[in-house]
Amino acid sequence: MFKRKLIVGVITLVFLFTLTSLLATAPRFAEAMEAEQEKSLYERLGGYDAISAVVDVFLTKIWDDPVVGRFFVGMGTDTRNKLRQKNKNLLCFNTGGPCRKINRPLDVVHVGLNITDSEFDIVVNHLGDTLKEFKVPEKEYAEVMKKFGGLRPYVVEKRIKKH
Ligand code: HEM
Repeated sequence: MFKRKLIVGVITLVFLFTLTSLLATAPRFAEAMEAEQEKSLYERLGGYDAISAVVDVFLTKIWDDPVVGRFFVGMGTDTRNKLRQKNKNLLCFNTGGPCRKINRPLDVVHVGLNITDSEFDIVVNHLGDTLKEFKVPEKEYAEVMKKFGGLRPYVVEKRIKKH
């Protein structure tokens, strides 16, 4: 009889202990989940150094491209470096990072270049290839591509609203 009571007592204690531990860790788990969800796209991409490396590879692909490379012919190293920096700041800013945009408005800077939808698509594909090369996870990949694609009306000639 005493043995049975002892077993029941031990089981009850173990149960209560497990329940208390679960209740104690649940809020911390929820907090951790929340913190993960609150991370900006900038942080999830790996911060400034990761963004900088992506832009360098992405721009090189564009400059070397047989179709869209023509837009950049005659640009010297200094001009290209400025273009790099402007694009790094823009991507950093647009993903929630601690950067300022230092470029002129995109519709102003691209107007008159007569960029077509298919030329824009070539650039989008280079960005996609670059993100894959950097093994950017699917969720972040989709977010970057969506943001970038959303800029089409500021770049493609017939879609730019004339000022
Ligand atoms: C979402 C897509 C694009 C973004 C975010 C973007 C971003 C930029 C930025 C930040 C600048 C520098 C602006 C400044 O000097 O203040 C720039 C300039 C330029 N972009 Fe784009 N661009 C995009 C698409 C394209 C495409 C598709 C082409 C050509 C195929 C292109 C060709 C150029 C050229 C030639 C310049 C230099 C213009 C100049 O300095 O006169 N861009 N772009």
